[in-house]
Amino acid sequence: MAVEMHAGLASEGGSKLKMLLTFVDNLPNGTERGTYYALHLGGTNFRVLRVHLNGQRSSVLENDVERQPIPEHLMTSTSEELFDFIASSLKEFIAKEGDGSNISTNRRELGFTFSFPVKQMSVSSGILIKWTKGFSVVNMVGRDVAACLQEALSRKGLDVHVAALVNDTVGTLALGHYHDPDTVAAIIIGTGTNACYLERIDAIIKCQGLLTASGRMVVNMEWGNFWSSHLPRTSYDIDLDAESPNPNDQGFEKMISGMYLGDIVRRVILRMSMESDMFELISPKLKIPFILRTPLMAAMHEDNSPDLREVARILKEVFEIPEVPMKARKIVVKVCDVVTRRAARLAAAGIVGILKKIGRDGSGGITGGRGRSNTKMRRTVVAIEGGLYSSYSLFSEYLHEALNEILGEDIAKHVIIKVTEDGSGIGTALLAASYSS
Ligand code: BGC
Repeated sequence: MAVEMHAGLASEGGSKLKMLLTFVDNLPNGTERGTYYALHLGGTNFRVLRVHLNGQRSSVLENDVERQPIPEHLMTSTSEELFDFIASSLKEFIAKEGDGSNISTNRRELGFTFSFPVKQMSVSSGILIKWTKGFSVVNMVGRDVAACLQEALSRKGLDVHVAALVNDTVGTLALGHYHDPDTVAAIIIGTGTNACYLERIDAIIKCQGLLTASGRMVVNMEWGNFWSSHLPRTSYDIDLDAESPNPNDQGFEKMISGMYLGDIVRRVILRMSMESDMFELISPKLKIPFILRTPLMAAMHEDNSPDLREVARILKEVFEIPEVPMKARKIVVKVCDVVTRRAARLAAAGIVGILKKIGRDGSGGITGGRGRSNTKMRRTVVAIEGGLYSSYSLFSEYLHEALNEILGEDIAKHVIIKVTEDGSGIGTALLAASYSS
């Protein structure tokens, strides 16, 4: 990972890791004041937020959130339909603000969390490189996402300014750093997966000449697209990729994130049921892609009942397999375990790759030859968000186990993985505050 990070920073197209510039060179520090808005598009839900900031880091941020599932047809609709939906949701949200008496009539400032790969031109503009996670809205690739939103807001008559266009990882880093200045990187492991981190500007060779006051910039790695010949792929991975809407793309994501884990498990169970008498009949439902969603797979994995009745219930509900013998239930749990453990360990290896790149893995950086023992390790915080880590305890347990194994306990104790609450939304509102003045 660290080697590919170097390659992606050296030249455009130098690696499958895009290592995208974000133009975020300063992270919020707690002095931000005022009311800011954020919209978040990118996972299973769409969210609108309002955040009140009082200029004090330690105080609890007050925020109101409205969340709704993204209507499925919009994921493959036209950009106008998608952005009109987003703008209407914001308009309704604003219309519900208090009794109207204390609402400012000034222009509102908004941060847009757009959780897809974007080539940024500035902190508030950028073009969509490609869709991921099942989205494929037509005529969007190559267009400025912030401008599309700004136009839709104007169509709805809203006096709202898009002050920041932000990847969800960057929002998470902003909130993590706001609460804990030792935060140097942020990871999302939800429907999709990705990471960003603070890089020295002189290490970003491909943007030679660009100067920032802080001498640093947040880099959006788009690690979901990471690939290496050292990564073994099973036939299930190969088939899943070939049958996906984006073959040869997002290879790391397809082994790690919530959108895919359930489907890997389904593929293994299907093959087992075809090649053995594990179940009496092969249920046709086993052949339906994505029918087993990851939260249900996690529920089977974490079934602690002595007779694994949750496993049997879910197999019946999802695949219409009526009677599952105990032996088969145990095998299904084992399959979930193998798939999740691999995902968590890959994510942990990715985190260590970032630490290595920035010299926080205890080895003195990728080119350093110093031994681990005499390196003083600084407290290093990695902010994390997404359902897989925060709601799936075996996943987070395996991730920590792997971090300890790879780094060694002496180093790993200095690396703190911290869950942020809604960083991808609140963090983006913070960035809108930092960059709107
Ligand atoms: C996208 C990233 C995003 C990640 C997590 C990936 O599919 O390409 O931009 O950060 O999902 O939401």
